[in-house]
Amino acid sequence: MDLYEYEARELFRDHGIAVPDAAVAASPREARAAAESLGGRVVVKAQVRTGGRGRAGGVKFAADPASAELTARQILGMDIKGHAVRKVMLAQPVDIQAEFYISYVLDCAAGVFLAIASAEGGTEIEEVAASRPEAVARIPVDPRRGVDAAGAAEIARAAHLPPEAAPVLARLWQVLVQRDAVLVEVNPLVRTASDRIVALDGKVTVDDNARFRQARWASPEVVHDDVDPLEAAAVAKGLTYVKLDGEVGVIGNGAGLVMATLDVVAGCGARPANFLDIGGGASARVMADGLTAVLSDPAVKCVFVNVFGGIASCDAVADGIVQALESVHVTKPLVVRLDGNDAARGRAVLAARAHPLVQQAATMDGGARRAARLARRGV
Ligand SMILES: Nc1ncnc2c1ncn2[C@@H]1O[C@H](COP(=O)(O)OP(=O)(O)O)[C@@H](O)[C@H]1O
Ligand SMILES: [Mg+2]
Repeated sequence: MDLYEYEARELFRDHGIAVPDAAVAASPREARAAAESLGGRVVVKAQVRTGGRGRAGGVKFAADPASAELTARQILGMDIKGHAVRKVMLAQPVDIQAEFYISYVLDCAAGVFLAIASAEGGTEIEEVAASRPEAVARIPVDPRRGVDAAGAAEIARAAHLPPEAAPVLARLWQVLVQRDAVLVEVNPLVRTASDRIVALDGKVTVDDNARFRQARWASPEVVHDDVDPLEAAAVAKGLTYVKLDGEVGVIGNGAGLVMATLDVVAGCGARPANFLDIGGGASARVMADGLTAVLSDPAVKCVFVNVFGGIASCDAVADGIVQALESVHVTKPLVVRLDGNDAARGRAVLAARAHPLVQQAATMDGGARRAARLARRGV
């Protein structure tokens, strides 16, 4: 889960990293009041979870509360790289002498954390890395050792940052570890005219698998407001659902099987509408929630339920589907493939129910072909 800049700013502040005073506003009037409380002159910043806001016109100076209100009116509702701006952050302007870049990122391919730092901050680091790779230091971090004062000093030296930036590097590592983040980035970290080191922009990605132990993000209802609404509803019910842009709804048990099902559906010339893993048990409740989630997607033309009874037995899954058919108003055809433990009994349960919109397939390929055909027919 990516955090907004204002959320990242609060984490930085709580970990002792200097940040400008700031306030969040969702309307021009609120922006005016916030500017007043911040002393008049402010920077008005679009809150969207994407970079390059400055270039897109989403970061603007305002000389007084009245112009902060006007500027907020311009920025609120803007579209930045497909993200609608619903909030702005108003921050005290800082007199910038130099802009740096610092981040820690989990490099999954290499299996290490990387400290990435540069004395050429402000613009996007990919651009600096492309044009002047020698200006970007990349230093592996051993997670067992972490970044202590000596490690932070070493990173600062390697990146030609002033020594005063080292404590920020050590604190930023604490943000990563204590907040279960897989990415923490400050761009720019600046040196001010009064020689303070201040974090002016932040990006934090929290590991979704650790949300349960991060009190602030633990509740499944805490889904950011610009997340796809179907996805938000499914996640709130505890489902592992990802919205895709096709027409064939896909429900399966086990992430591997669902991934394979997406591939097979695509191989049949149709596009999957979603990824939905109902997990090992596949109870009636989960099946009903899953069907509801998938059928509520207007793009879905048919649903392919692909279940392999490995730990679960297929008759229990079939019972789940039958019970789900009682509670969910099914309006689109369902293709169901059951295989594995007790497959014959499971198929018999479904056959006995004889729902007019449910048809069974003997194999995964056959089921995917039929679902693709139904989607094409546009039933
Ligand atoms: N509080 C601030 N005071 C002064 N300048 C700022 C402030 N916040 C941002 N800026 C300037 O605006 C630029 C872009 O803002 P930033 O928050 O990094 O957005 P983005 O990276 O999305 O473009 C920064 O590099 C900095 O030069
Ligand atoms: Mg930035």
